[in-house]
Amino acid sequence: MRAPARRPRVRSAALAAASALLLGLAAAPTAGAAADGHHRPATLHELAREHGRYFGSAVDNPELTDTAYADLLGREFGTTTPGNGMKWYATEPQRGDFDFTAGDEIVDYARAHHLKVRGHTLLWHSQLPDWLTSGTWTAAELRAILRNHITQVVKHYRGKVFAWDVANEIMNEDGTYRENIFYTTLGPGYIADALRWARAADPTVKLYLNDYNVDGLGAKSDAYYALIKRLKADRVPIDGFGLQGHLALQYGFPAGVEENLRRFAGLGLDVAFTELDIRMILPADATKLAEQADWYGRITEACLAVRRCVGITLWGYSDRHSWIPAVFPEEGAALPWDEELRHKPAYDAIRSALSGG
Ligand code: G3I
Repeated sequence: MRAPARRPRVRSAALAAASALLLGLAAAPTAGAAADGHHRPATLHELAREHGRYFGSAVDNPELTDTAYADLLGREFGTTTPGNGMKWYATEPQRGDFDFTAGDEIVDYARAHHLKVRGHTLLWHSQLPDWLTSGTWTAAELRAILRNHITQVVKHYRGKVFAWDVANEIMNEDGTYRENIFYTTLGPGYIADALRWARAADPTVKLYLNDYNVDGLGAKSDAYYALIKRLKADRVPIDGFGLQGHLALQYGFPAGVEENLRRFAGLGLDVAFTELDIRMILPADATKLAEQADWYGRITEACLAVRRCVGITLWGYSDRHSWIPAVFPEEGAALPWDEELRHKPAYDAIRSALSGG
């Protein structure tokens, strides 16, 4: 049974202002004046900022040449995350040979549009360069490789990203550790090491663990809760937990989202939806789009209900550019803007949640 959706609790102005300050978000009006003097509606980010939150969208480098898409992203959102440009295959294509071209392009685009950048990701089992996955490494060698990668990338983006997904998708669905190259060679201690190396390279950036299927309560989010509690007890630097939020209507709304956010916040962490999209089995129809809208509204409300939920990032904002059709060919229509960059019901639901219902 579904719990009734809670209304967002708008926090006191002082708290919101303090939080906004921490995120480097200046106080903002809810609507801007266009050059002709007419007022335009507030953007999702402007509405989120009223609550001390951000609203962002990922962008992949090739999408920057779609100027209508890139311009709208730059106007509507307050943060962006490179969809691929800061991953290991892109940043260290050959051992010790770093290439920041793709990531820098996103940082430059973000700066030009006054967006802040979430760094994604220092360590993942996927999209690793061939030299790394095809090599045979002793533990000492792989440790040095991981340390150098994290150090170089984090130093390069110091002051340019406000958060890092330090380790991405390190757990299995049943809450055991994923057997990625780092786990199998170094054991579970690689996670604490990665966080410590990232902190050493940038003392102020927010350090996150990030995963999918951890939005609600369950074995996988339980495992993260236990891990982060241990990391905290061991004084390992960790600032946040990222819930990717790759949801699908056919699997039902995750159970206990707000409770889940709250328990991680209770560990003294920030939480954020980092890659939100809500796909459906195609074709889309009015019923599915209405349910999708309801889900987007509920996720937004859950974030607003938990003080340490700092923001929401969509994994792309329009059905024009989405990772989903390539991976799930029968599915899609997952974003709040359609392929023609028109608002879908989901956009109105987010807006309404951010406006207090
Ligand atoms: O770079 C090659 C290009 O040279 C080649 O011509 C082209 C042909 O297919 O492929 C290009 O690589 C693609 C890459 O994105 C860059 O565009 C890969 O095929 C494609 O699989 C890859 O997909 C990315 C995916 O991560 C990989 O797992 C998506 O764009 C990206 O949105 C997605 O993002 C992940 C997050 O990082 C972590 N959480 C899940 C999320 C969705 O899968």
